[in-house]
Amino acid sequence: MSQQSASSSLPPTLPLRRGDLEGTAALPLLEYHAINQQLLHKIAYDALVWSSLHGLVTGDKSVERSGSVPGVGLVHAPFTLLPASFPQSHWKQACELAPIFNELVDRVSQDGEFLQESLSRTKKVDEFTSRLLDIHSKMLELNKKEEICLGLHRSDYMLDEQSKSLLQIELNTISSSFAGLGGLVTELHKNILSHYGELLGLNSERIPTNTACNQFAEALAKAWCEYNDSRAVIMFVVQAEERNMYDQHMLSLALRERHHITSVRKTLAQIDQEAELLPDGKLYVDGQAISVIYFRAGYTPLDYPSESEWRARLLMEKSSAIKCPSISYHLAGTKKIQQELAKPNVLERYLENKDEIVKLRKCFAGLWSLDESDIIERAIERPELFVMKPQREGGGNNIYGDAVRETLQKLQKAGSQEDAAYILMQRIFPTSFATIFMRSGSCHKNHAISELGIFGTYLRNRDKVIVNEQSGYLMRTKISSSDEGGVAAGFAALDSVYLT
Ligand SMILES: Nc1ncnc2c1ncn2[C@@H]1O[C@H](COP(=O)(O)OP(=O)(O)OP(=O)(O)O)[C@@H](O)[C@H]1O
Ligand SMILES: [Mg+2]
Repeated sequence: MSQQSASSSLPPTLPLRRGDLEGTAALPLLEYHAINQQLLHKIAYDALVWSSLHGLVTGDKSVERSGSVPGVGLVHAPFTLLPASFPQSHWKQACELAPIFNELVDRVSQDGEFLQESLSRTKKVDEFTSRLLDIHSKMLELNKKEEICLGLHRSDYMLDEQSKSLLQIELNTISSSFAGLGGLVTELHKNILSHYGELLGLNSERIPTNTACNQFAEALAKAWCEYNDSRAVIMFVVQAEERNMYDQHMLSLALRERHHITSVRKTLAQIDQEAELLPDGKLYVDGQAISVIYFRAGYTPLDYPSESEWRARLLMEKSSAIKCPSISYHLAGTKKIQQELAKPNVLERYLENKDEIVKLRKCFAGLWSLDESDIIERAIERPELFVMKPQREGGGNNIYGDAVRETLQKLQKAGSQEDAAYILMQRIFPTSFATIFMRSGSCHKNHAISELGIFGTYLRNRDKVIVNEQSGYLMRTKISSSDEGGVAAGFAALDSVYLT
């Protein structure tokens, strides 16, 4: 171990300083890149074996059938060998926000006019958002009320280095991924530290337990109970090709093993073919009654290659099955709504508790619509301080750096309404630290930044809130030079939290 030699090149956040942690024996200084090569390889080897044995895996892109046939062409999910440090105070702050955001989404989702009005300009230029809004309008016309609402959310944050504040990147209300594999990485890191912690000067108990998978399964199971049809199953709406399928299968397995509930997987196209909606609102797919519809597809225009998929989405929305998310929960999680909620006096329309409003506002980064001309000028001047975001999910769609300037100037020249497709956001700059990535069986030392996602589960039946909880977490780490952050999209690696 060459722990001492690392002290001169300490990055700002990672190292544990002697006496930093109350009640902890003095910890040695540590810089992950200074770990002795032999020890590093030993830990990496153990970690790779652990991931294979525990299902910390995804489909390998180079094997064609790996996206559709389980058990074929597996590769370990990208992960970091050791956890990322995160201050306890900000961790607590992020966890406390989860039930407040859950409630906010629920309240906003019930204000159909606000959703339609806020997205009305976007609707004109963004075909995908427009189709979602059409479904939403139809439900408003039918005066359809969702009696049972289920939210499985993930709110993502970065810790801004300069302001030392925890700032929200976005809130995902549809297909919040990695409740399964994220928890496995936590277990992996705990396992590594219980073996090597003493050598590394790290304590496995500093990694918060992560029960995201069980909590997601429990919320789904409770929703299933509320629907109250013991023959009905939970339907996972999935993409035809899904290399992140094991993250989803972990949830189905937990449903089966812990709650004795059957789940089925269907693509939107299959649902269009096989679904039947009875006059009383009951949904049957391939002859099977469906109680809960859990979307792991349907969040990107790519999931709707033809009218068939849109038909399926509309049919499901019309049904009395519990939708996770309903169309209004989906819309409440769009980036445009995030920006509208950050305007003065908007939160007050949905929440009564002043302390909660203060807590939410504290984590809002700068957010602007593109009809604010002074901010456009500022962004053209200093594009590196902004991120431009269209109404998309799944990673790889945001605009950064010089491309922000070019896009804004192009939009200005065109003078069209196209600008309504985007929002502008303050760019957050987290502190970079030394980490070790594990990708395709190899170790890579890099400087990296992290993004903390906190899962939230919410279940309401009419006036009764049955679940409103913080439900585990997902730490994602990416090399500091990368703009985007998705794991499945290939930018980031799964990580966990080491509280400091
Ligand atoms: N304001 C910001 N400052 C710095 N980085 C950002 C900012 N907004 C987004 N990012 C980076 O871009 C990534 C993708 O952004 P965002 O989450 O808004 O898009 P998305 O397509 O909804 O992604 P996801 O698939 O994670 O839901 C984030 O994970 C983060 O790494
Ligand atoms: Mg998202």
